Amino acid sequence: MQRHIGPVKLLLVEGDITQQQVDAIVNAANSRLAGGGGVDGAIHRRGGPAIMEETRRRYPEGCPTGSAVISTAGELPARWVIHAVGPVWRGGSHGEAQLLASAYRRSLELAQEHQCRSVAFPSLSTGAYRYPMDQAAQVALQTVIDFLRQQPGSLQEVRFVLFGQQAYQTYAQVLEKLLPEAESSQG
Ligand code: APR
Repeated sequence: MQRHIGPVKLLLVEGDITQQQVDAIVNAANSRLAGGGGVDGAIHRRGGPAIMEETRRRYPEGCPTGSAVISTAGELPARWVIHAVGPVWRGGSHGEAQLLASAYRRSLELAQEHQCRSVAFPSLSTGAYRYPMDQAAQVALQTVIDFLRQQPGSLQEVRFVLFGQQAYQTYAQVLEKLLPEAESSQG
């Protein structure tokens, strides 16, 4: 599924974030940048040890929840990995939506600061961090749409790479509500 936000393509695909041929992929990291399972495990496994060596050296203090840092991408097809730290879901009244939105925004800013034309996101916080998929999709898509309307910068494509059909369907339903097909050409 795809939509256009002004000049920028917003694309939903089902797949594996580590296989994406884009300038930057986003990692679902933790605030210690310590690695883990899910997206984080797959990125470090496929990208090799250079990524962790770089994040340890450049970001010894880690990265706060709601923010992101950038490294090179080792052996991955992408050029950059943006390590974004989404919130752990604690029921929804602990600032989770704001923190999730801010992790997406900071990731997009970093992509622009590194002149990226394309960036691929996983569904941050919806695995080990247990953020409900439909609420996460709402925050993720609305935040990206608002950001691209205000400041597309170098970006030409933002891709969400959803793991499994259910995640894809959830994101597709939310995007269809936010940007019905008939209106998408107006951005
Ligand atoms: N490609 C795309 N999406 C993936 C992949 C993959 N290879 N693997 C898992 N996913 C999906 C999950 O199904 C989930 O919907 O990404 C979403 C995010 O899940 P997690 O990777 O568990 O990330 P998150 O919920 O943000 O938790 C982060 O988990 O692995 C640890 O170190 C990480 O502590 C951090 C925490």
